[in-house]
Amino acid sequence: MVIELKEGVYWVGVVDWNIKKFHGHEYSTHRGSTYNAYLIIDKKIALVDTVWGPYSQQMIENINKIIDVGKIDYVIANHAEVDHSGGLPELMKLIPNATVVVSDKGRESIPKHYHQDWNFKVVKTGDSISLGENSLVFVTAPMLHWPDSMFTYLTGKNILMPNDAFGQHYASSGRFNDEVDMIEVYQEAIKFYANILTPFSDLVIRKIDEFKKLNIPVDIIAPSHGIIWRKDPLQIVNKYYEWASGGNDGSAVIIYDTMWNATERMAQAIAEGLAKEGVKFKLFNMAVSDRNDVLTEVFKTKGIIIGSPTLNNGLLPTIKPILEDLKGLKFKNKVGAAFGSYGWSGENVKLIEETLEKAKVKILLDGIKFKWQPTKEELGKCVEFGRSFAVKMKGG
Ligand code: FEO
Repeated sequence: MVIELKEGVYWVGVVDWNIKKFHGHEYSTHRGSTYNAYLIIDKKIALVDTVWGPYSQQMIENINKIIDVGKIDYVIANHAEVDHSGGLPELMKLIPNATVVVSDKGRESIPKHYHQDWNFKVVKTGDSISLGENSLVFVTAPMLHWPDSMFTYLTGKNILMPNDAFGQHYASSGRFNDEVDMIEVYQEAIKFYANILTPFSDLVIRKIDEFKKLNIPVDIIAPSHGIIWRKDPLQIVNKYYEWASGGNDGSAVIIYDTMWNATERMAQAIAEGLAKEGVKFKLFNMAVSDRNDVLTEVFKTKGIIIGSPTLNNGLLPTIKPILEDLKGLKFKNKVGAAFGSYGWSGENVKLIEETLEKAKVKILLDGIKFKWQPTKEELGKCVEFGRSFAVKMKGG
């Protein structure tokens, strides 16, 4: 299937309904994904990005429906990650003399992926390549989200192709944002931002400001995953600005795991305390919750309360991965606290608090822990703990 974005510009990518885990198994893609590649027919022929390697032939078949693939002059590799550059080896066998356009960091990383000596051309921000009627203009976007990332803009058609930025892991029958369920799209877009782009939020703001100053018309934003923004395309740019600024909805999440329900009973009592103070909350037992979905909820909230029993002087294994993510993602403007049951040594609260500090989460009050099963009185203290947390959180 091929889709025309504007006259002479085609989507020649692949919809992957089957993929449910991305980055190996690191990222859950409940709604599948797409690998978007764009073919531009002008006096010269350009392909912007490819697809994940296993889908190379499908992309090549798509291109051949429009034009003989051998006629491609330029292949723009906006990003070296294999879900976009993976089609290069099969494609370049058919067009060995074509020019592969990359950023300087792409020049380093793409040969290290494929060990091929293609005809590379390195571009930087402001460089352009004339295709005849229209030109491709490049804007490097380091760390959005890899050092090599760049955006490609097609003049005349006013199409921005920013690769991963503004994308979503979302398989759908429609290719454009006016053809799909936008509630689903935004759920996937915020998940993508929270799990992948959050550490680079300051760069996102700078890049958007830089782009706005260029004052170039944008009719379509065509990312490399998910839907193409055709209706009010700048809506997703404005959303990114809002997300990058670190706002939150004033709610809280309680993230925990439990062995014999003691920590779970504490979690529920803390939640009762939050409710008494009118703070909205969600509870996530990490034994049965999807880590990426929970991180998305953390991204939206202000308060993060984390609980685990002590096990072998440490924490339950299900809690450790999300603590690692919090350290790496460095969400802005979060406050937190720790809790849990313990039997003997009781390092749990201290270990959680240490990690929250490393994640730049402000600890609002000393953690709370009780031995074995909490008594009715101790559960009452958990309710008070939740209330105190809520009051402090609302206070600033
Ligand atoms: Fe969709 Fe960074 O690759």
